[in-house]
Amino acid sequence: MQRTFIMLKPDAVKNGHVGNILARIEKEGFKIKGMKYLQLSLNDAKQFYKVHSERPFYNDLCSYMVSGPIVAAALERDNAVSHWREIIGATDPKEAAEGTIRKLYAESKEANAVHGSDSVDNAEFEISFFFKGHELV
Ligand code: RTP
Ligand code: MG
Repeated sequence: MQRTFIMLKPDAVKNGHVGNILARIEKEGFKIKGMKYLQLSLNDAKQFYKVHSERPFYNDLCSYMVSGPIVAAALERDNAVSHWREIIGATDPKEAAEGTIRKLYAESKEANAVHGSDSVDNAEFEISFFFKGHELV
């Protein structure tokens, strides 16, 4: 078993896709270990996306991530990290495969509905960024 960290980004919440994406999470066999509905502060967003701080899209991305509430969750499954990346599809929904979450629900390359950790180590770091031990069950 492996854990990954995911977010439903502001566009997914605003456009009413939370229910459908949670249903997909269950259908794919993920177990929900922790889940929060919250508004990120700009500081949180900047910290969370610090790896991208030198990228041209960093400031826009951080502003976008605080533009509305999000859902943050820790999910468990075999190959959780790679399975989630597979079912969310490419960063840009225009390039995402049919049936992927971003193809179905994302607005644009920035407002792309969901986040997913890109490695097991980053997943553990991102889970601990959002959840205290007792909040994971
Ligand atoms: P994520 O980290 O959110 O799961 O997405 P990802 O791995 O597919 O993409 P990444 O390269 O890590 O980029 C993080 C997020 O930044 C926004 N982005 N905007 N305007 C742009 O060119 C651009 N490129 C990336 C997206 O919201 C992307 O998910
Ligand atoms: Mg990424």
